[in-house]
Amino acid sequence: MLLLLSRQVSLSFVKQVIPRSPVLFSKPASLNLRTFKFKVKFSTVSANATIQNIITMPERRPFVRLPTDVYPVNYGLCLKPDLIDFTFEGKLDARIEVVQGTNQIVMNCADIDIITASFAPEGGEEISATGFNYQNEDEKVTLSFPSALQKGSGSLKIDFVGELNDKMKGFYRSKYASASGEMRYAAVTQFEATDARRAFPCWDEPAIKATFDISLIVPKDRVALSNMNVIDRKPYPEDDSLVEVKFATTPIMSTYLVAFVIGEYDFVESQSSDGIMVRVYTPVGKAEQGKFALEVATKTLPFYKDYFNVPYPLPKIDLIAIADFAAGAMENWGLVTYRETALLIDPKNSCSSSRQWVALVVGHELAHQWFGNLVTMEWWTHLWLNEGFASWIEYLCVDHCFPEYDIWTQFVSADYTRALDLDALDNSHPIEVNVGHPSEVDEIFDAISYSKGASVIRMLHNYIGDEDFRKGMNAYLLKFQHKNASTEDLWDCLEQASGKPIAAVMNSWTKQMGFPIIVVDQEQQGEDRVLKISQKKFCASGPHNGEDCPSWMVPISICSSEDPACTKMKVLLDQPETTVTVPNISPEQWVKINPGTVGFYRIQYSSAMLESLLPGVRDLTLLPVDRLGLQNDLFSLARAGMISTVEVLKLMEAFVNEPNYTVWSDLSCNLGVLSSLLSHTDYHEDIQEFIRDLFTPIGLKLGWDSKPGEGGPQGPGSGHLDALLRGLVLGKLGKAGHKPTLEEARRRFKDHVEGKQILSADLRSPVYLTVLKHGDSTTLDTMFKLHKQADMQEEKNRIERVLGAISAPDLIQRVLTFALSEEVRPQDTVSVIGGVAGSSKHGRKAAWKFVKDNWEELHNRYQGGFLISRLIKLTVDGFAVDKMAAEVKSFFESHHAPAAERTVQQCCENILLNAAWLKRDAEDIHLYFLQRKAPPV
Ligand code: BES
Ligand code: ZN
Repeated sequence: MLLLLSRQVSLSFVKQVIPRSPVLFSKPASLNLRTFKFKVKFSTVSANATIQNIITMPERRPFVRLPTDVYPVNYGLCLKPDLIDFTFEGKLDARIEVVQGTNQIVMNCADIDIITASFAPEGGEEISATGFNYQNEDEKVTLSFPSALQKGSGSLKIDFVGELNDKMKGFYRSKYASASGEMRYAAVTQFEATDARRAFPCWDEPAIKATFDISLIVPKDRVALSNMNVIDRKPYPEDDSLVEVKFATTPIMSTYLVAFVIGEYDFVESQSSDGIMVRVYTPVGKAEQGKFALEVATKTLPFYKDYFNVPYPLPKIDLIAIADFAAGAMENWGLVTYRETALLIDPKNSCSSSRQWVALVVGHELAHQWFGNLVTMEWWTHLWLNEGFASWIEYLCVDHCFPEYDIWTQFVSADYTRALDLDALDNSHPIEVNVGHPSEVDEIFDAISYSKGASVIRMLHNYIGDEDFRKGMNAYLLKFQHKNASTEDLWDCLEQASGKPIAAVMNSWTKQMGFPIIVVDQEQQGEDRVLKISQKKFCASGPHNGEDCPSWMVPISICSSEDPACTKMKVLLDQPETTVTVPNISPEQWVKINPGTVGFYRIQYSSAMLESLLPGVRDLTLLPVDRLGLQNDLFSLARAGMISTVEVLKLMEAFVNEPNYTVWSDLSCNLGVLSSLLSHTDYHEDIQEFIRDLFTPIGLKLGWDSKPGEGGPQGPGSGHLDALLRGLVLGKLGKAGHKPTLEEARRRFKDHVEGKQILSADLRSPVYLTVLKHGDSTTLDTMFKLHKQADMQEEKNRIERVLGAISAPDLIQRVLTFALSEEVRPQDTVSVIGGVAGSSKHGRKAAWKFVKDNWEELHNRYQGGFLISRLIKLTVDGFAVDKMAAEVKSFFESHHAPAAERTVQQCCENILLNAAWLKRDAEDIHLYFLQRKAPPV
């Protein structure tokens, strides 16, 4: 791929030329709670069998880690990017330690041409390498020397050239428009997980830490940034348009955390209370948009310093918005890179959910500065430690900065339920999973590592208690700072701090996949309530019925109607079943398991227990998080065939007086899943009516406009949550064809387009969605125009995500074509296609065809990274016909996507589950809708 590069680069920097030798499942008014019956069915073993027949596990790729006979101590690294020709020249001067005499050095190297390489032992003579043997599949190079390198230190010099690629990984180019509208490019890096090797030859494994002295030779009018502060900047002797920028030596660190950025940026800065210089770099002219993130970052650094009781170890931290960026953000030590939409907030044009997202992402990446950067996982098997922990503590941080966000309730809907859904699949994987080859590593940046990881840490934190948890965390960070650690190391520290059997409890959650369903029944014995509690593995196709049912060490807490927010009793379920006596519970009180929805399991109550809990949904005496949890458990049980979906629809109707945003959001998401399922039937319109009926009262309560200074349905100080709820409800009503909402959306849209009255940022998504869903080609043209005119990436993304709502097949086709056009940033194509697939039955088919027809380009664009997995999931997960599972499987047998193998299997499993669900419950659902319309007299 890079064969021609050596010819294109000017050779002034690289002196000698030697020829080359050889990474859907997301979710409704007249329920008489007294008649609610919890119908238990255990009936879906056949679906299980079908799934097993279709899905075969992939073969693992052979993989060996780097030899340990030579390791780096310090990388002296100088890079000279060419922002016109998209190439770079590099010089590596690494101090290395030879542990054992050898005449070969094996390093990671990919898409790089080595020009020369030599080794000089300390005080000895330089030996030139005579061969560079590239093992392209393994992304390694073997440097051969004519004589053995003796044990001891020495210097390894390598001159090389590479391409500033357009794949958003390694050292790559990112396009932006200058103030005059001219297209320019920045050179930026994204090395996690295994792409530092595309920028310079290195020992690209997290445990091989070294210090870095980085210099960049760049045009003098460009900003050059790296992990550390600048210590020298001088003219480059060979070209007076260039400067050489030298950065301070880094602490010992892993290669995946190295970063550099060369481009044109403005910034805002401030010093945190603990003396760290914080800058937020923005596109030129948009410095103001960095202020919100700057505030969050300056509050967060002292918060973490205090929480971890360990100071931030670098003198500065930069947060920078990168135009082309595959992930959401990346925690490079001292230089955190972000998508524009994860960092920039415009007070007028950014919506409430964007602010919340920016706060969460900043909180997440800054947590990594300690947890990940200072203490790093020993190998990618422990990636979850990094990502699960950061995904938990980002909520703690946002709760600290913005208590009004009620962010922990949102955790349950965003992470906890998402993890349970994925982990119920036969094709899930344990949190700790053996990985080797880069494609296997890419694959585990998924909801198991992030959301299940965060959920089990939340459960653990609750089990240990905050004080001992912090004590253990502090011991862990101090013991392993500047080193590497494994999951066991963290358990040891937490065990020491708490005196509790942490490893034994946690191993059952991280080393085996899945989670239990806790089956509960009760009996009144005098003053006491006796609970019979048992566990089985929960599967998306029903509970595990086989012999070798795995079991978990389950921390179980119990509360009662006396005080629904207070845990009355805690037990550790460490066997298949047990009996628990809860003292002093009178017969009229209810008893609930898992208050706060903290334990990572689903619950199946006996009919009587469930019936006793349901009035608490309607009268709101159950906590919001528990109303959410109950609804979500029942929905999941319905999908698994354990109860009828009709029972869940009846339960949903009990939420008609619900005031809480997150409870609505989760319910809305589940209704979306059901609506998508029923799009395969003739009565899809009936569920729209159900949605309209359910959401109308709350829609009326909220209205279209916020009342400044006034607490809405969620109480005083709930402006943020009211804004989120308003957007959710209006979007739901508009999409479901609620006439008054549609008319008002059209009116406001017209005023917006004509410039008469600009829509507030929080109303744009629901209005765009509504007018598009019920719109024509003129509407689509107007949206394209708004997209083109938009100056903020947030607005472009907002439009991109809803374009798929358009209904006419020819217009859907235009949206798909647009997805791959120059108008859409490569990282955003996925959400445009996903939006089409998620909007209608026709959209799903059209999107899948589009993905197949354009496979080569899409796969090539993302080079097998995690975006390809997201694209596949968004496109095919919603099918509900058996034969589609076979079709998807067969397509990916001939069109390999190594980093998406498990995603493909999960999607096939979901398609079969959807199909089984539809076959099982469709008719009952239809009858229920008919009865609602014409209740029997
Ligand atoms: N370390 C990741 C970035 C990353 C993701 C690198 C995937 C390589 C592959 C970073 O800390 C992260 O987790 N970013 C998240 C945002 C976060 C708030 C969940 C992301 O990019 O989605
Ligand atoms: Zn992360």
